[in-house]
Amino acid sequence: MTTTNTLPHATLLESLKVFAQVLGPTWAKGVIIRRPAMVGIAESLGLDKHAVRYMQKLRDKYGNDPLLLRLPKSINYALVFMPEHVHRVLQETHQPFATDSREKHAALAHFQPHGVLISQDPERSKRRHFNEAVLDTALPVHRLADHFMGVIHEEASQLLNSLGYKQQLDWERFAISWFRIVRRVVFGNAARDDEQLTQLVNKLRGHANWAFMHPKNDKLQQQLHSRINHYIQLAAQSGSAPEPSLAALIASTPQDADTAPADQVAHWLFAFDPAGMTVFRALALLASHPQQAAQAQTELKANTGSSRQYLPYLRACILEALRLWPTTPVILRQSKTATQWDSGMMPTNTGLIIYTPLLHRDDENLSYANTFAPEVWLDQQHTTTAQQWPLLPFSDGPAVCPARNLVLLLTSNMLAQLLESGALELRSSRLSPKLPLPGTLSPYRLRFKVKG
Ligand code: HEM
Repeated sequence: MTTTNTLPHATLLESLKVFAQVLGPTWAKGVIIRRPAMVGIAESLGLDKHAVRYMQKLRDKYGNDPLLLRLPKSINYALVFMPEHVHRVLQETHQPFATDSREKHAALAHFQPHGVLISQDPERSKRRHFNEAVLDTALPVHRLADHFMGVIHEEASQLLNSLGYKQQLDWERFAISWFRIVRRVVFGNAARDDEQLTQLVNKLRGHANWAFMHPKNDKLQQQLHSRINHYIQLAAQSGSAPEPSLAALIASTPQDADTAPADQVAHWLFAFDPAGMTVFRALALLASHPQQAAQAQTELKANTGSSRQYLPYLRACILEALRLWPTTPVILRQSKTATQWDSGMMPTNTGLIIYTPLLHRDDENLSYANTFAPEVWLDQQHTTTAQQWPLLPFSDGPAVCPARNLVLLLTSNMLAQLLESGALELRSSRLSPKLPLPGTLSPYRLRFKVKG
């Protein structure tokens, strides 16, 4: 049925509340790099829980279709609530729903102006293809898995050995090791101690947090890209048996002038940060949930050596930490044409907002909304996307995160190493199987004590 009606509009007050209670706190915590103090405030004040409650209220009031916000004339935003509409928007990426939204472009252009996420065809397809080829998107286990697991083993052992009796494992210590792993995975051993590189990425991510409101620093961006290119060339020159790394794979991956490898790698370096946070949160969940921890230990005992490449239960724990505390809480699309929905038309050039905490923590629809339930992910493997309730830590459809499997490989193995030490006790948070899990969990506040 075709209709010329438009979709429902929120009132001005409701639209303002969406910005104040939902999008504002998300932005304040830092979209491209987290601001630890703001994440702590969000945790203390329960801001993410309030945001979910407000979104449920709007959904209950306006029913089924996307809800247009009331904003100045030329700017259109719509909230997408219903599972089937979320599936539609993600599956109909890139036509009519483009990933290259104005906000994302303004933010990511600070350090990866030619990154795939903010590209349009014909360049976009080439860049996506390049990402998929190096990251082994289609494979559950990356071809360099054994080497990467060795890297993780070395760095995690060094981290654990550095913790004396009564010392604590906190985010600062963990992050040093995690980013060593990241630099070795991406570039090889030569970059292991190049902390300046990570600092450079983080500085530009800090600018990106402000999107349009921060001037671009071309000099810094050039510095980052030439450092990345230096490591890519180093890997390419290392002869017939190069040290395994993503950079070494780049050398043998088809590319042309549009591929812009340094921009793609800049995205990878940025995106490994949330992966580290997720390991730390999953560790906190397992340290506070004995039943699930026992299941994880059973899996570890049954799998040693190469069979650690695929650890279904630990991967499910990682996915569950991402469900509970998604690191990409807002998935944005921009409509390129007017689109038809049940109750009317959505104007062209509308920004569509999928707020994933509403779907992941919807206690009106999910019995497990606020509990630690890794089994949900094991069950999901048996249903098709269209049947599934949308749990979207890595998004879905043609723009699904091309590193999903690589991230699950690296994070589950890092988690395995930390769990295997058997010595870490959570000291800092009140996570418990008897309490609903908090809407925010700051990784910066987590502390694990080494048991005596
Ligand atoms: C916990 C870790 C990560 C999570 C939760 C995550 C999540 C996501 C999500 C939700 C998107 C899609 C955004 C959208 O639909 O608009 C995405 C895109 C992307 N991710 Fe990840 N990601 C993670 C880590 C990584 C890593 C480590 C890499 C690279 C090594 C990576 C590479 C990419 C790329 C290249 C895209 C753009 C895809 C496209 O536009 O086609 N991600 N990621």
